[in-house]
Amino acid sequence: MRVDGTHYRSIWFNHASGDVGIIDQRWLPSEFRIATLQTRAQFATAIRDMWVRGAPLIGATAAYGVAMEMTADPSDRALDEVWHMLNETRPTAINLRWALDRCRNHLAPMPPDARPSAALQLAHDIAEEDVETNRMLGVHGLSLIKDIAARKPPGEPVRVLTHCNAGWLATVDWGTATSPVYHAAEAGIDVYVYADETRPRNQGGITAWELGSHGVPHAYIVDNAGGHLMQHGMVDLVIVGTDRTAANGDVCNKIGTYLKALAAHDNQIPFYVALPSSTIDWSVHDGMSEIPIEERPAAEVTTVQGKASDGEVVTIEITPAFSDINNPAFDVTPGRLITGLITERGICDASASGLAGLFPERAT
Ligand code: MRU
Repeated sequence: MRVDGTHYRSIWFNHASGDVGIIDQRWLPSEFRIATLQTRAQFATAIRDMWVRGAPLIGATAAYGVAMEMTADPSDRALDEVWHMLNETRPTAINLRWALDRCRNHLAPMPPDARPSAALQLAHDIAEEDVETNRMLGVHGLSLIKDIAARKPPGEPVRVLTHCNAGWLATVDWGTATSPVYHAAEAGIDVYVYADETRPRNQGGITAWELGSHGVPHAYIVDNAGGHLMQHGMVDLVIVGTDRTAANGDVCNKIGTYLKALAAHDNQIPFYVALPSSTIDWSVHDGMSEIPIEERPAAEVTTVQGKASDGEVVTIEITPAFSDINNPAFDVTPGRLITGLITERGICDASASGLAGLFPERAT
């Protein structure tokens, strides 16, 4: 999508230097910085420390990490080591494992000298597929926004609330939850987005930054405001992303998603989850008990980062040093609270039968 009129993707291959470019998201929204990655250790750090983040982008980054490793050392041992090193970086987003398995299954049977170019081509394919898949989420999600727009008085925007950043910066392009919004904006429909702040890492700032950079009207709201806005008729639709969706339709997403689903349910507001099928874990049949929830460092809770009045990006402490800290990064929203799942194949119920209807070849 666009940043000040220039089209960017969140990850790309630099043909001249043979490395991989990323937008270093640790600095957003304060600063727009680009970083390059080459070694497997750099890729592992970038995923674990959230230079890149968002389930689909984590998957694409891992694929480029394997490709860079295969260029340096295409041996069986290196393939095994890079798989393990990257797989350990973040436990919840299933796209990581999905991409790594796809790379290993494709590359392992090949002779080592064929691996560098095949691995790079596969990383490009995964990135391109992600863009096309997310475009399709937007095409299907647009129909929901159009329906609401048709029922609104002229001049009133469709107001969408989203949590965390499931935007183009969490994917290769378009985003998942934001793709319907960008499609609506391009179709000339008035849309207005409420971006939840999403403590502790404040990914709402990334959502607000990308929407604003693309010219989509929006408001940045604190996490606790969503229920109030819903009670007062200020939200027409909630769309969020997911890091792992169980085969029974339970959705694991950024911490706080469950509370928004409860508030939406209590106020009869449609609550949709937009996801590429690479985010479905077909081996998990009960999202509530089977999905590992990442526990992240306490420093994410005890501090906040922002721009000081002199323009410097600074980190300050906000909690007493003696408090225990819990930092679960994700929660699970049961399928019964979800109005529907928006996938690249269409929209379905958040249930085993709903998902099986759209993906009969995967359902067991
Ligand atoms: O911890 P993060 O920032 O990687 O979490 C991201 C989310 O929870 C997103 O909602 C999810 O990955 C879907 S992204 C299209």
